Amino acid sequence: MRKKIIAGNWKMNKTVSEAEALSAAIKRELDTEAKVDVVLCPPFTAISAVSQAVSGTQIAVGAQNMHFEPSGAYTGEISAQMLREQYCRYVILGHSERRQYFGETDAGVNKKTVAALAAGLKPIVCVGETLEEREAGKIEEVITTQINGSLAGISEADLKNVVVAYEPVWAIGTGKTASPEQAQDVHAMIRGLIASLCSQSAADAVRIQYGGSMKPDNAAELLSKPDIDGGLIGGAALDALSFIAIVKAANEA
Ligand code: PGA
Repeated sequence: MRKKIIAGNWKMNKTVSEAEALSAAIKRELDTEAKVDVVLCPPFTAISAVSQAVSGTQIAVGAQNMHFEPSGAYTGEISAQMLREQYCRYVILGHSERRQYFGETDAGVNKKTVAALAAGLKPIVCVGETLEEREAGKIEEVITTQINGSLAGISEADLKNVVVAYEPVWAIGTGKTASPEQAQDVHAMIRGLIASLCSQSAADAVRIQYGGSMKPDNAAELLSKPDIDGGLIGGAALDALSFIAIVKAANEA
């Protein structure tokens, strides 16, 4: 059985004081018996404050990006080691907004994935097709390229620490959600790709989150599907009660 994982991707939202308030509210509301992994991914500037706010709880902290080098002349960048020092355990890599607005490629995501794993961070590697690609019947082609490129050369032992997030670009922040069946089809395909890339046991162990307008009212149905192992939540993660409602849905799934 794969343990479900619910992660909040706060994107470029929340100042330090707002982040402290949101994490404190989530901590207060979270059922101490939560059977799922819960991860908060604030902007870099609030990571330290959120780590402090949730210390001593089962809530983990993640970043939204990192550089693949450990240090050096890379103005504006942050390394895996820097994140580890702030008690980060996860890092989101290759989010579609980074691919779309910051030119991230599968090769770059692969370098970051390797570096994150070497530093002891669990990468949340994002893949997903655009609406045009879906309508052109290219889902399989696009996802295969992204998975094979982003996860190239990762060992079976390391793959068990990778989380994949399937986020159809057309569903992110749009209020349009993939139907549970549409999402399940792609999740099963991703698991098959990982089996071919590595092994069936690695594929069986990898957790695959769904992301794209997951909300309290659609979470339970999505999370009931056999290959949907959690959610990467954007908008609904900015509100403590909505986020907790999704965690509860995962707890019961
Ligand atoms: P959304 O974002 O829940 O606001 O659609 C999800 C994501 O981009 O990770």
